[in-house]
Amino acid sequence: MEKRELLYEGKAKRLFLTDDENLVISEFKDDLTAFNGEKKSSEAGKGALNNKISTELFKLLEANGIQTHFVKMLDDNHMLHTKVDVILIEVIVRNIATGSLTRNLGIKDGTILPFTLVEFDYKDDDLGDPKLNDQHALILGLVEHQDELDKLRRMARQINDILKPYFADKGLNLVDFKLEFGKDKSGNIILVDEISPDNCRFWDMESGEKMDKDRFRQGLGGLTVAYEQVLNRILGK
Ligand code: CDP
Repeated sequence: MEKRELLYEGKAKRLFLTDDENLVISEFKDDLTAFNGEKKSSEAGKGALNNKISTELFKLLEANGIQTHFVKMLDDNHMLHTKVDVILIEVIVRNIATGSLTRNLGIKDGTILPFTLVEFDYKDDDLGDPKLNDQHALILGLVEHQDELDKLRRMARQINDILKPYFADKGLNLVDFKLEFGKDKSGNIILVDEISPDNCRFWDMESGEKMDKDRFRQGLGGLTVAYEQVLNRILGK
């Protein structure tokens, strides 16, 4: 499958059309951004690591009954996937308090939450991705019906129920992560985007070491080494 015109360029990926109107190609970039694009950098090899990690995790989720946009990995930096209408809601799943949850609500960093928290953010960089409740999402027309919001929450919990024990088995705490969903041409809601250390937080269960994009956000260094370790643990190396 060949890349055709550039359809869209995001912060971490470029999206290309293909000869098949139902399929598109994502190119995973080495670029890194944080704090709504205020902090920028690039790390050679980061894009390929995220493509490989996402590929493994999409395969795992598909094998466990979650519909995703994944079709196949084409090469180190390219993934073929279904074309969807992206739902402009970032679904945030949290098992342990950190980041904005700690900042906004004062819950002590590292607190294990009494149950998994699922939140919605409006995917809008100009507005700084504000928090949404269900009524906001319906008023903005981000989905058509309450049922669809319920479905996003249900799918997010199912995905967490698969990923959390999977990573625990590999010595990693899945602290929190962000999911995106879209509607395919039949109107089915499916998982899209990527699942990688760019949008998940992983803490090593023994050392507590951060093995995700917080290494960049917090200037800790060693980002690609950490991402490579996540991939190696996934591959059982
Ligand atoms: O990163 P920050 O602390 O500002 O945001 P958060 O709401 O605590 O992030 C929760 C989780 O969602 C983290 O794993 C982030 O990496 C991820 N996230 C993301 O990938 N993209 C966003 N726009 C917001 C959060």
